[in-house]
Amino acid sequence: MPERWTPDSWRGKPVVQVPDYPDKAALAAVEKQLSTFPPLVFAGEARNLKKALARVAAGQAFLLQGGDCAESFAEHGPNNIRDFFRVFLQMAVVLTFAGGSPVVKVGRIAGQFAKPRSSPTEKRDGIELPSYRGDIVNGIEFTAEARTPDPRRMVEAYRQAAATLNLLRAFAHGGYANLASVHQWMLGFVKDSPQSRRYMELADRISETLVFMRACGLDLESHPELRSTDVYTSHEALLLGFEEAMTRIDSTSGDWYATSGHMVWIGDRTRQPDHAHIEYCRGIRNPIGLKCGPSLKADELLRLIDILNPDNEPGRLTLIGRFGSDKVGEHLPAFVRAVKREGRTVVWSCDPMHGNTITSASGYKTRPFDRILSEVKDFFAIHAAEGTYAGGVHLEMTGQNVTECTGGARAITDADLNNRYHTFCDPRLNAEQSIDLAFLLAELLKKERAGQAVPLPAAAGL
Ligand code: PEP
Ligand code: CO
Repeated sequence: MPERWTPDSWRGKPVVQVPDYPDKAALAAVEKQLSTFPPLVFAGEARNLKKALARVAAGQAFLLQGGDCAESFAEHGPNNIRDFFRVFLQMAVVLTFAGGSPVVKVGRIAGQFAKPRSSPTEKRDGIELPSYRGDIVNGIEFTAEARTPDPRRMVEAYRQAAATLNLLRAFAHGGYANLASVHQWMLGFVKDSPQSRRYMELADRISETLVFMRACGLDLESHPELRSTDVYTSHEALLLGFEEAMTRIDSTSGDWYATSGHMVWIGDRTRQPDHAHIEYCRGIRNPIGLKCGPSLKADELLRLIDILNPDNEPGRLTLIGRFGSDKVGEHLPAFVRAVKREGRTVVWSCDPMHGNTITSASGYKTRPFDRILSEVKDFFAIHAAEGTYAGGVHLEMTGQNVTECTGGARAITDADLNNRYHTFCDPRLNAEQSIDLAFLLAELLKKERAGQAVPLPAAAGL
């Protein structure tokens, strides 16, 4: 029998990657205040996402999950949200139209603030301070004041998440996402690129299709799915005090839900089966993601699946592999086989970002676009060989014209990184690189759905 779960039962377990707040009374007061705030999402929406993810698990849809590595207070504004939404929509349209698959859109947004760190402290010029853990915890400036964890930041993060979600909902349902506007979603700075020509060709074909459908007598106005779209939110459930305060009973089902976002995931550093993060996530009924890195063993993965999805509910669990382009062939096939052997239903997703981070010669943390593409291709090839579905991708991306990942059609070099390196944490795909990747994904998806083979990575041993 599993132990009794409560929203605070994680407090009795070992925990890693949580901040050490010096002012415990202030922390308790903020958590209490947050627990009285309105939920950011409704449990019924989380259930709808779970149903959509069940279709992904069955190979009937594709999961597109992406957004900032870390949202920041400084970059909170309408243009940033709009530009992200726009490029995300464009990617979804490319995948739907060129890839022939419905797309489940889940942003890393409206709550993606807390960051795990490889070291609890950072040293510069002989001074040691707490590491930056995301704007919900402390400030990025290297001063003792900024780096001291401040619980009031949680309230600010809540407000920002609410405002962001409000605009996302307005864009999704207020007319912006109307498929008839497919030409207007083009970002100014992407206009004269090869991606833009490809995208415009696709947009022309969509417009022609809509004209054709109308000419056939179909009443497009009566199809809300052409005028609006569903966009869900997600973040890493890292800051458990915040998550606990936002955990509420759904009055319609009597079940507990995280109401901080539709989907939450467990990071690669906090997935110890007997620790606090797994304890918290096992009791909420939202769709859950689990990051799976190279240090995870197949038997441990099965144990985690048992804890997180004991009833084998389709759509409940998304396994997000983040191995690195040189390791995916070595690790993923064993996981796929173990999960298949045990008859477990999961969504297989690929995070081609976190295993492909390198430090460039100029000292920037970057990700070569080729390695990102290579991990994605191998992910598809492995699933094709194993007879399972490549269900989705998990990306760090932005609608801004940043220079953070090297390569892509504009061949961003190490020397270019300095131009527009804006991330608060990990390097993100810029808009052009994101669209480029969407076209590659569309090709892979089309092949997968047509049952065509994709070349396997050498290390897959198949
Ligand atoms: C992340 O998704 O930002 C992250 C920290 O990933 P991981 O837990 O896979 O390292
Ligand atoms: Co990251």
